[in-house]
Amino acid sequence: MDETISSETRFLHAVEFGLGAWQWGDRLIWQYGQSYDEDDCRAAFEGSLAAGIRFVDTAEVYGSGRSERLLGQFLKETDQPVLVATKYFPFPWRLTKKSLIKALKGSLERIGVEAVDLYQIHQPYSLLSIESLMEAMAEAVEEGLTRTVGVSNFNQTQMLRAYSALARKNVPLASNQLTYSLLNRGIEKDGLMARCKELGIRVIAYSPIEKGLLTGKYYVENPPPGIRGRRYADLLPKIVPLLKLMTEIGQEHGGKSKTQVALNWCICKGTLPIPGAKNAAQAEENAGALGWHLTEEEVEKLDRASAAIVK
Ligand SMILES: NC(=O)c1ccc[n+]([C@@H]2O[C@H](COP(=O)([O-])OP(=O)(O)OC[C@H]3O[C@@H](n4cnc5c(N)ncnc54)[C@H](OP(=O)(O)O)[C@@H]3O)[C@@H](O)[C@H]2O)c1
Repeated sequence: MDETISSETRFLHAVEFGLGAWQWGDRLIWQYGQSYDEDDCRAAFEGSLAAGIRFVDTAEVYGSGRSERLLGQFLKETDQPVLVATKYFPFPWRLTKKSLIKALKGSLERIGVEAVDLYQIHQPYSLLSIESLMEAMAEAVEEGLTRTVGVSNFNQTQMLRAYSALARKNVPLASNQLTYSLLNRGIEKDGLMARCKELGIRVIAYSPIEKGLLTGKYYVENPPPGIRGRRYADLLPKIVPLLKLMTEIGQEHGGKSKTQVALNWCICKGTLPIPGAKNAAQAEENAGALGWHLTEEEVEKLDRASAAIVK
């Protein structure tokens, strides 16, 4: 048993995989309402549950509350237990500690639960200090509104401030939700991932298939729509050798897809990936990352191929 992990947060280390719900209701990046709708999101949720996935990540800002509302609706329609994580956004007009408890109560109402399993600070930039935010988080735990506390997009310094402030209240820091994929390994390079491991903080990997890029369905002649297309224009031509290797490795494992290889790599690195899914087919394919493991040699090969793309 890993002694660095506190008993309150141990359940999160047992969760191997999750489902991201930013897609549910978001029109700006994900075009909710155009290529997919509520029924597709429900099918993504149900498909994930059927595959044994029991952890859903949402946020109050996703679809301006729609993601939380949809999750609430889907939870009512199932009798399966589901672990729920949501996030507080430190808007500049949120100037007091009370605003966190108020926001959390709003999330609980939309999700239709009495408490969430993980409440995270969405990003570190706030007019309130990290210490004040953590004091409010400790109150939320005390009031039974959240089981555990997490942060997101916090660098080492910010995370250590959060960790220490919570420790003064006897609350462990459960997680840091960070961008991590074969195309984005900053947290390995800057030591944040190692520091999380050392302190028993679960790394929740967001954008684990780099917003669709690692599925292999996008290429120079077929870029992703909207903002993503512009953001990834330079990267698309460079990822071809990595995608080829991912195909080869997938074949070695009985025909696993590139998406499944990308997600399995995140698991092999000790993180909890939460790919977003717009429909049942995506959710089911993503869940196929479970139940098998890349070999150490394959992980090393993938590491080298990814390092050749993103320095
Ligand atoms: N804390 C934060 O700041 C933060 C930031 C970002 C995300 N997140 C969380 O992390 C979750 C995942 O990250 P993400 O949504 O940015 O990126 P992602 O999981 O890397 O990519 C999701 C997108 O990839 C495509 N896709 C997913 N599965 C697929 C499959 N099997 N086959 C083909 N295409 C597939 C879909 O888009 P298309 O079909 O349109 O290509 C989907 O919307 C989010 O839902 C959210 O919960 C957190």
